[in-house]
Amino acid sequence: MSKYITTPIYYVNGEAHIGHAYTTFIADTTARYERLKGNETFFLTGTDEHGQKIEESAQKNGKPTQEFANEISATFKNLWDEFEISYSKFIRTTDKDHMAGVQKAFLKMFDKGDIYKDFYEGHYCVSCETFFPETQLVDGEFCPDCGRTTSIVKEESYFFKLSEYEDKLLKHYEENPDFIMPRSRANEVKNFVKGGLRDLSVTRTSFTWGVKMPESLHDDKHVMYVWLDALLNYVTALGYGKDDANMDFWPASTHFVGKDILRFHAIYWPAFLMSLDLPLPKTIGAHGWWTRDGEKMSKSKGNVVSPKEVSDAYGVENLRYFMLREVPFGQDGDFSQRAFIDRINSELSNDLGNLLNRIIGMSGKYSAFEIDSVDVAKYHTKELGAMNRVLDSLDGYMSEMQTHRYLEELWRLFSIGNTAITEHEPWVKIKNDKKEEALATVALVANILAKASIMLSPVMPKTTATIADALHFEINNASYNELVIDKKLLKLFTIKKVPPLFPRVEEPLMQEATQAEPTPVKKEEKKSSKKKEKFESEADFGDNLLEIGQFFETALKVGTVLEAEEVPKSKKLLKLKVSLGENDTRQIVAGIREFYSAESLVGTQICVVANLKPAKLMGIMSEGMLLAAKDEDGLCLVRPEKPKKAGTPIG
Ligand code: MSP
Repeated sequence: MSKYITTPIYYVNGEAHIGHAYTTFIADTTARYERLKGNETFFLTGTDEHGQKIEESAQKNGKPTQEFANEISATFKNLWDEFEISYSKFIRTTDKDHMAGVQKAFLKMFDKGDIYKDFYEGHYCVSCETFFPETQLVDGEFCPDCGRTTSIVKEESYFFKLSEYEDKLLKHYEENPDFIMPRSRANEVKNFVKGGLRDLSVTRTSFTWGVKMPESLHDDKHVMYVWLDALLNYVTALGYGKDDANMDFWPASTHFVGKDILRFHAIYWPAFLMSLDLPLPKTIGAHGWWTRDGEKMSKSKGNVVSPKEVSDAYGVENLRYFMLREVPFGQDGDFSQRAFIDRINSELSNDLGNLLNRIIGMSGKYSAFEIDSVDVAKYHTKELGAMNRVLDSLDGYMSEMQTHRYLEELWRLFSIGNTAITEHEPWVKIKNDKKEEALATVALVANILAKASIMLSPVMPKTTATIADALHFEINNASYNELVIDKKLLKLFTIKKVPPLFPRVEEPLMQEATQAEPTPVKKEEKKSSKKKEKFESEADFGDNLLEIGQFFETALKVGTVLEAEEVPKSKKLLKLKVSLGENDTRQIVAGIREFYSAESLVGTQICVVANLKPAKLMGIMSEGMLLAAKDEDGLCLVRPEKPKKAGTPIG
């Protein structure tokens, strides 16, 4: 099967920001995913270089328009190259072949009678390159889309008979419920069409920076409307109007666009295509907008996030992961360094990075780094079943563009791996002469890591290639078929040590946000010192006596420590896995490292406050608090006097 994935082509009036990077990442991830599945995939991106807006930007910068366009276009291309975006073609609307293709398409629509010449008088917004009827203007003057002042323009124009496509468009939306994704956005498009479509002015005479009219029309004073020119890039890139070299890829599988340009893609574009007798794209995927720390990004506020700056600080793959994990496709997202750091530390470093390190460590100790899947099925049918169910569910999320759910589910694989280690305790098995069992658990987790890496590879291609290298295989369509589709297990191999893949981030790494956002570690410290003050000054409790019911609002339970480890780079914190009963295992981060070693806690019992809101300590989620008493002599844990079943209520 062949697939065709596109990004919008970016205006060359300014450099890329993370909104652009997001569209590009999601399209690149989709293209990589399709290739992984063995689908031949053409992935297009590029720049949109014509129109009054670009002409004016060039003038402001004191440069000839083409030179200005060349420079900005190159910044996009260089950035995508640096990010190793896997595009098949980078198109520019100033490419000769593209312009020739646009002229051919125009002529075809004209010859068909879909384009005619008339006069246009209307309110024009230069920034949006769009005419608006008076009824749509804000306060009779301002652009309904961007709020800028519109100006009245009267000019001779060629018109496209958009009004004739109303019914055909509505029929197409009805018959193809996946045409607009998320489906929830389809209504706004349908309503717009139902409200009546006016014929569309598709040429301009007020400026010259655009594709010229087809020669045979002998009408030099017109240039093409920038949206007609731009939308056609999706077919000229495949050779439309020239040699049709790659037209086999048409129709597009998905045009990824921001929600602000959905209307152009879901109304104008299909109408143009119908006029050209070309099939319509399968899906227009409209994503939401990114804000920074809750605010709209704008140059004047100086809060535009530069993807280059972020990737220099945190790495481009971490940024890809964050953006695709953080936001449900279609909804707006917020870029905050804090949220980004939390995901790096807890999901990438802890869940994934540590799991790999544990497997490397254990296999090193128990089997000279050799891993063999031969006994996995014997001891781990439950885990294999759970793992396969997760693997089978992933494709559905990707085809719905729900990358956040895709990644969320994918992460369940790591918790299957972590839980298997906790439950099966390979280190105990080794001591008890059950080496076969211990090695089966290690091999199970190695397999989980391998399969998860394959599925993570479209989002984090380089990192997962390193993991695959450690596990002695390569990520490609063959390994996808073998390990993910056919559910085979890894063959005997020697695992390689790899440097830590996700170093923890303790402090924000980008300057501005450091000032704007104190780190939560500091916040925690502040909060706890306040609590202490209050407690000491109210030693006799005064009016603060509790009702018994108030006391019982706190759920105290006996917990059994299943696992304990030191939190790297922290002198105080230990991270515990604590069982509070059969189906309730918690991760608790506690400041007790100065008083207890991690090993001494495993297998012992503690008392836990079980209904606290989860909180993050040094980026690690803590899902409860353990009880301890502290005085000048140090700290001791509060424990049940005799062993009790994990989860037994205290009170
Ligand atoms: N040139 C047109 C597209 C023509 S496609 C035939 C255009 N260019 S743009 O540079 O202004 O925007 C490109 C894409 O970036 C759009 O999909 C737009 O939605 C997206 N974004 C611009 N700012 C954004 C955010 N703040 N957040 C997310 N995406 C945003 O429109």
